[in-house]
Amino acid sequence: MIEPVVDTYVNRAWIDQALRADVAEGLVSQPKELPPKWFYDDRGSELFDQITRLPDYYPTRREREILEREIDVIAERSGADTVVELGSGTSEKTRIVLNALAATGRLRRYVPFDNSEATLRNAAAELAEAYEGLAVHGVVGDFEHHLGHIPDGGCRLIMLLGGTIGNFPPAPRKDFLAAVANTMAPGDTFLLGFDLVKDLDRLIAAYDDPEGVTAAFNRNVLSVVNNRLDADFDLEQFEHEARFDLEEEWIEMWLRSRCDQQVTIGGLGMTVDFAHGERMRTEISAKFRPENIGPELAGVGLAMERLWTDARGDYALTMSRMVARR
Ligand code: SAH
Ligand code: AVI
Repeated sequence: MIEPVVDTYVNRAWIDQALRADVAEGLVSQPKELPPKWFYDDRGSELFDQITRLPDYYPTRREREILEREIDVIAERSGADTVVELGSGTSEKTRIVLNALAATGRLRRYVPFDNSEATLRNAAAELAEAYEGLAVHGVVGDFEHHLGHIPDGGCRLIMLLGGTIGNFPPAPRKDFLAAVANTMAPGDTFLLGFDLVKDLDRLIAAYDDPEGVTAAFNRNVLSVVNNRLDADFDLEQFEHEARFDLEEEWIEMWLRSRCDQQVTIGGLGMTVDFAHGERMRTEISAKFRPENIGPELAGVGLAMERLWTDARGDYALTMSRMVARR
């Protein structure tokens, strides 16, 4: 077994400084807002993992269905010896891809990239052990700041799975895709998974499960602020809300204050008032129309070669190739 290497850019000091800035800005904005990247401490990553197994949360299952069906084509067309996975999380579906590349005899390296250090380290250790001869080089980084630290080399398949692209609003999404494209060499391929617009009831059910796991995931962002910035959010006093914005075609998750309350953020020397019923937005999750993805990718120099959906048409995966020079 080759010992995994992990480079850490999102460390305690970085988190404290970046969270400080996001909370200071987000809690005085109108409406109040916190970026979804802060869901994923150890507990948040564990809750997301539980979400992926909920009966109503279909995206993970649908993406796995497509990957299993199309993986031989993906492995062959990519020609890759290196897999770079952005927002790799527990790297569970990754095994489908690694198995297929291993079968071609080309697989050499796996580069998980995530801001959740413990989750990434666990996944890196498990995969290094499971795949003899695989070099695992993890990067604990933030999408907006550390893509430039992804190690170079090899013929690369870059993956962004799970529908994570939907958590970016349109303008940051374009910047992010451009930054991803900027890390790619001509011939490298990009595998992108994204959720599709569908029946409203099913969308809402996926983000408001009766088991309350998504609610716990949503409220967990308050625990992160409590723990990191010495705040005193009372999680019981915030209600989970999921709604679909028909115009923007995205799910929004909110936390709604159950009463008039004042929260102290000791680490910022700040107090914040929440009125009864006031809502703070914690996430958007955009749902796409297949015909719009090709042009978005083309806008950053990626030529879409394939688009697949699952049998029900719930979810899609595209494969595109870097055609422009870096
Ligand atoms: N790809 C996995 C996990 C998706 S959950 C799957 O398909 O199931 C989104 C992942 O992105 C989480 O692991 C989270 O820790 C990571 N993430 C969220 N925001 C991030 C950011 N700004 N920078 C780096 N990683 C981020
Ligand atoms: C990671 N991301 C794609 C998930 C989503 O569906 O937007 C996060 C999530 N939020 C609530 N449930 C799952």
